[in-house]
Amino acid sequence: MVSKQSLKEKVSDYQEVCREKSPRELLSYFLDLFSNRIALASSLSVEDQVLTDMVLKVNSGAKIFVLDTGRLHSQTYEVMSKTMEKYAMAYDIYFPNAQRVETMLKKNGPNLFYKSIECRKQCCNVRKVESLERALAELDVWITGIRKNQAVTRGSINTIEWDEANQLLKLNPLANWHEDDVWDYIKKYDVPYNTLHDQGFPSIGCAPCTRAIKKGEDIRAGRWWWEQPEHKECGLHPKSRKKE
Ligand code: ADX
Ligand code: SF4
Repeated sequence: MVSKQSLKEKVSDYQEVCREKSPRELLSYFLDLFSNRIALASSLSVEDQVLTDMVLKVNSGAKIFVLDTGRLHSQTYEVMSKTMEKYAMAYDIYFPNAQRVETMLKKNGPNLFYKSIECRKQCCNVRKVESLERALAELDVWITGIRKNQAVTRGSINTIEWDEANQLLKLNPLANWHEDDVWDYIKKYDVPYNTLHDQGFPSIGCAPCTRAIKKGEDIRAGRWWWEQPEHKECGLHPKSRKKE
């Protein structure tokens, strides 16, 4: 196992590697280098479906994990099942801690996220962030589907970066892709995708916190639509993490 410090020191070398490689080549390079200490985090979004297809074509046994918040859309579970069938694979599923969910619901009710930003963040923390911490504990690299032009909060991401909050490398192979590149890939390789995308949902999270958008609206306008754009992060991708 490599120490955190030496991983962190290698970021600029890895950034150099990233300059010359396509997303598929990058995945091949890093999956080979980090074997069982690298995993793709999939929310079943179109970006993550592209990466799932690429990752499994490089290594059919690669680790892919899903944080199942317990509040996902049924269409999201459908695409999960379809993907498992198509690629004959199994996800590592992380579920929230039952006792923490029970305590939270008893105190603030099942739909606490609409009450205040604090309540919304508490729910994301219990249902997503804590599970993420467990999923990342055994890893040196996590792979995500984030892209620069997805959100005002994501304009400065790098293809590979040091994730200070979680203390490991974060590989964002599609950082420089545009939405059209993602859909071109999905169609070209006939990759399963969430049918909610055909109903005006460009970005999909949990069911109560996601709605369809109107033509011309920002692609994340339907996520936590009652909040301002600069708050629209659930805590999976912070610059640093404050313990709550
Ligand atoms: S969020 O922070 O607003 O919820 P978003 O939905 O854009 O994130 O997803 C960005 C990336 O975070 C995804 O491409 C995926 O790598 C990771 N991610 C988000 N939600 C999940 C989830 N439920 N399970 C696993 N990974 C996730
Ligand atoms: Fe809770 Fe909504 Fe966050 Fe999902 S997106 S964890 S339901 S606040």
